Amino acid sequence: MSERTQVAIVGAGPAGLLLGALLHRHGLESVILEARSREYIEARIRAGVLEQGTVDVLREVGVGERMDREGLVHSGIYLRFDGSSHHIPMSELTGGRSVMIYGQTEIVKDLVAHRLQTGMPLRFECHAVTVDRLSSDQPVVRYSQGGTDHELECNIIAGCDGFHGVCRGAIPADVLHVWEREYPFAWLGILADVGPSTDELIYAQHEQGFALHSMRSLKVSRLYIQVEPDDDIANWSDQRVWDQLHARLASEGWELNEGPVLEKSITPMRSFVAEPMRYGSLFLAGDAAHIVPPTGAKGLNLAVADVTMLGEGLVEYFGSGSDAGLQEYSDRCLRRVWRAQHFSWFMTTMLHTNPRDDDYGRRLQRSQLDYVCSSQAAAASLAENYVGLPLTRASATALGNG
Ligand code: FAD
Ligand code: DHB
Repeated sequence: MSERTQVAIVGAGPAGLLLGALLHRHGLESVILEARSREYIEARIRAGVLEQGTVDVLREVGVGERMDREGLVHSGIYLRFDGSSHHIPMSELTGGRSVMIYGQTEIVKDLVAHRLQTGMPLRFECHAVTVDRLSSDQPVVRYSQGGTDHELECNIIAGCDGFHGVCRGAIPADVLHVWEREYPFAWLGILADVGPSTDELIYAQHEQGFALHSMRSLKVSRLYIQVEPDDDIANWSDQRVWDQLHARLASEGWELNEGPVLEKSITPMRSFVAEPMRYGSLFLAGDAAHIVPPTGAKGLNLAVADVTMLGEGLVEYFGSGSDAGLQEYSDRCLRRVWRAQHFSWFMTTMLHTNPRDDDYGRRLQRSQLDYVCSSQAAAASLAENYVGLPLTRASATALGNG
């Protein structure tokens, strides 16, 4: 069975769903194919920190209403080490920018509801098997649904199918360059049915390992601890997780509230970049093209930035026939991607306990923490990256590096 659309979007994560919404807003057609069920993608617990630019784009496509009602605006973070907390007043340091705490799960639910309301196709349990004819302007996605094979013909394919998808692998090996780094640790995350013990996120460095106190609402906490890269979740009873959280987040006069654990999982940490992000009529976006360790809270935000730039390029292409935006897509994204790669690496190495580190390395780490907590310039650099650099084309060139 065969069908045609302007843009075939592979994957209904935040990248694919948002791209569909951006295109629809400009009267462009797309079909979104998702391998999993609606229930599955709406239940997957992942990111929680939205940059100001991400918040703005979600509002612009008309899915900001519940986020603005239920999300929590944070204007700072705490860095905790040696039992003391140090506040980084991000808004003060960035001319009033802030982040929003709102779960990726909720964004996915809002975008799915929006898509279904528009009546544009969003197909669950459709597994893309190949993307083909990429050197032409008539590429095709072949996918299977319930044991039947289908073809989706289009002008453009958006590969929004995450790290384990099929799209990146369709770029010939002699064209695709990959940069990768594995870290000697992973994150164990829990969602707990208890109000947060803090007003803003706490990132803690501790000799037993990193810990992070985040939240999803004023009633639900999200907490993470550094664990071994090959650790088994079966080794971690709820009580063992809480004990480690108490130890690593400890601070004089501060208490951590415990509550029932609603979800518990381990995520490996890696850095990964694939270049270029475009091959012929295939455009990669989000985790399909890059992965960052989660410490800088950048993965979801990068996915949103990619599809915002891709959306602009596609509107221009289908509107006026100019492919200028599409031509610069890969380079424009990758500038931002590498900035996020560096920031995520910086936050990760500053805050984790690296079993391979020597005493010299540990002293450097401590010096970096001291510097960020005592120098306004160092804190402002962290804050500027954390709240997110502006998305617009003009500001990408504002410092003359574009
Ligand atoms: P995905 O969300 O992975 O979506 C890809 C979709 O494609 C999936 O639904 C998948 O089922 C589908 N798919 C795959 N293959 C196929 C196929 N062959 N055919 C059809 N469909 C297919 N980022 C942040 O910015 N801030 C944070 O605070 C943060 N915290 C995180 C915490 C954790 C524990 C984890 C795991 C991640 C975190 N991230 C964070 C990263 C963030 O979740 C990802 O970067 C984000 O999900 C990327 O979105 P995406 O749409 O590119 O990919
Ligand atoms: C969360 C995840 C992150 O990676 C981070 O840096 C901060 C918060 C979260 O899931 O809430």
